[in-house]
Amino acid sequence: MINELNAARDEALVAIAASNDMEALESLERDVLGKAGPFVAAKKRIGELAPEDRKDAGQAINATRTEVEDAIEARRGTLGASARAAQYANERLDLTEVSTAASVGHAHVVTQTWEELEDIFVGMGFHVAEGPHVETDWHNFDALNIPKGHPARDGFDTLYVNHGEPGSTLLRTHTSPVQIRTMLDQEPPIYIIAPGRVFRRDTADATHMPVFHQIEGLVVDKDISLADLAGTINAFVGTYFGEEVESRLRPNYFPFTEPSAEFDIRRADGSWLEMGGCGMVHPNVLRAGGIDPEEWSGFAFGFGIDRLALMKHGVSDLRELFANDTRFLSQF
Ligand code: PHE
Repeated sequence: MINELNAARDEALVAIAASNDMEALESLERDVLGKAGPFVAAKKRIGELAPEDRKDAGQAINATRTEVEDAIEARRGTLGASARAAQYANERLDLTEVSTAASVGHAHVVTQTWEELEDIFVGMGFHVAEGPHVETDWHNFDALNIPKGHPARDGFDTLYVNHGEPGSTLLRTHTSPVQIRTMLDQEPPIYIIAPGRVFRRDTADATHMPVFHQIEGLVVDKDISLADLAGTINAFVGTYFGEEVESRLRPNYFPFTEPSAEFDIRRADGSWLEMGGCGMVHPNVLRAGGIDPEEWSGFAFGFGIDRLALMKHGVSDLRELFANDTRFLSQF
């Protein structure tokens, strides 16, 4: 009987070691230690033994059974620990992992502003016009009532292009030459905007860049007055910034408009930011564009797109827009 018990114990120990999960271990436990198992069966047979052998047999049953029970407990501990470890591994979040999903780009904040402006003015009945970056001195200055030697030329910090007669070709300093090109190209009534890139020999600082963006507006029709200009600017500011944002026109001077005004908008801190200029188209400009100032009148405006984007998003330095830091640009 003792040999049988040892054999049953050895068999059980091998099976316990081989059990890979709790379920297998528990079913093994029921089989080995339960009523149908070898230890219970041996206990029942004790009565059949000679009385002097019963004590040894009883001790052997208890000893082998205890060995098996201890082995089951130990295996239970091991399987439990590895089950928890597997669960932890499964639930672990790797917060240091960098996303491998491709990042999707989007239009630059200046492009977004440009397109938004187009939408607003197209909604008001304007068409979008274009002109070249490399302009003639005539379109950029003379036709806009700024003849050679006119002091207003000095204010423009012009970048000239080495082409043709010295001084005859330049990078446009404003979008106003598109006024001339449009008038030469089409009959009034004219309602256009002309967004685009312009260039000045300027040192970059918080409010200036040597390359920046303007949007020009030109209206030529019968009986156009200053009230139409003011109403248009007001409607635009209200649509773009919201009705609570104030704008103002300040008398100013531009050679190509008469009267002329500066157009400012109020910042959150109460200070005014200069956005651009506007005024009634000067008769000389209408004439340069082949339009009879006795028959037609008009207004024009031009302002900086970049400054508008700056204002709208509360950015304090224009240079941020062009540093191409995606951490900055991805905010918009
Ligand atoms: N072209 C002017 C500038 O660049 C702005 C302007 C446009 C003023 C149209 C009046 C009319 O400063």
